[in-house]
Amino acid sequence: MGIKTLENADYKNKKVILRCDLNVPIKNGVISDDGRIVASLSTLRRLLEANCSVVIVAHLGRPKGEVKVELSLKPVAARLEQLIGTKVIFSDKTSGALQVATDLKPGEILLLENIRFESAETSKDESERMRLAKEIASYGNFYVGDGFGAVHRKHASVYELAKLLPSAAGDLISKEVKVLEKLTQDPLRPYGVVLGGAKVSDKIGVISNLLNKVNMLAIGGGMVFTFLAAKGIKVGKSLVENDLVPQVEKILIDAQALGVKMVLPVDIVVAPEFSIDAKPTLVSCHNIPDDQMGLDIGPKSAELFASEIKSCKTVFWNGPMGVFEFPNFANGTKVVAQALSQVDGMTVVGGGDSAAAVRQLGFADNDFSYISTGGGASLEYLEGKELPGLVALS
Ligand code: 3PG
Repeated sequence: MGIKTLENADYKNKKVILRCDLNVPIKNGVISDDGRIVASLSTLRRLLEANCSVVIVAHLGRPKGEVKVELSLKPVAARLEQLIGTKVIFSDKTSGALQVATDLKPGEILLLENIRFESAETSKDESERMRLAKEIASYGNFYVGDGFGAVHRKHASVYELAKLLPSAAGDLISKEVKVLEKLTQDPLRPYGVVLGGAKVSDKIGVISNLLNKVNMLAIGGGMVFTFLAAKGIKVGKSLVENDLVPQVEKILIDAQALGVKMVLPVDIVVAPEFSIDAKPTLVSCHNIPDDQMGLDIGPKSAELFASEIKSCKTVFWNGPMGVFEFPNFANGTKVVAQALSQVDGMTVVGGGDSAAAVRQLGFADNDFSYISTGGGASLEYLEGKELPGLVALS
């Protein structure tokens, strides 16, 4: 899809509405991973250098149209100000911030409060979204879409707003799309995909779409237990999406027919409950006790995954292998990240969780070819879906 980029756009000296994805993990006002803020800086700098004033629109969490103090973008404004080295004016309003936006001078940045405090942002009713989009459009005269992580959402600030003003994609979206195009169009082979995370339901579309494109598919994380269940293996109290077992059975059959190497864990770290101090026990995947749940892939599986990964020339990874936030269940994710960092080829880490995992586990961004800022967005791109935020910019 040809998206309009800043290269050929007439954005200099404009009052730009910049849609960013600043949806970062925050606990008690402290940002634990500022990757998405850092990733937004390139476009922002470019706009400031071009004498623009910039009104940033962003979301945090899913407040569903209600004002929730813990989902305020205020801490993000402070972090952004530190990183960009220029004052960031923060408006505690999104709707009704016209005066602040009007007073903004070239070189100044205004960050509006969480756009999802407005119920119209995520409304299913197109006319409501359009009403909010028109209001925000009145704050500026050019739109730059750069919130890659939200391009799969048909939301007012992602979709309708982009169509109301002259517009272009920012540097981040342009970069993300280039990487994903490479993955979908001409990946160097062998091409492996490693998927984890809690739910199969989030990944079933991408698995089905990638099956005839990849050489190797490795599955870990909570979602693997639906795969093991589909193979008739007992998984104790582990997470299983029973309604998806038939679809997973079909995936296993199709993979075999297509000659895709399916890599599943052979050992599992189990515990009696989901808690940071739960006692870990290592078992074979065929011996998961009825009263235990799997919280990580075991060391043999991690080594198996690592050797498969290292034999690939292109690897896309989305979703942790276990509950990496709990030290006793972080090993699988760590070993997979390590293997990825040793691949002689292109490696892409996709997703909020996986990106946070690699940083939290001490890996540097340049240990991988690319860390995507989009979780759902990059998966939906690989699924072959049309992404509203890209459609609006094309
Ligand atoms: C993300 O965290 O993946 C993006 O910011 C989109 O957030 P959402 O899934 O709440 O729409």
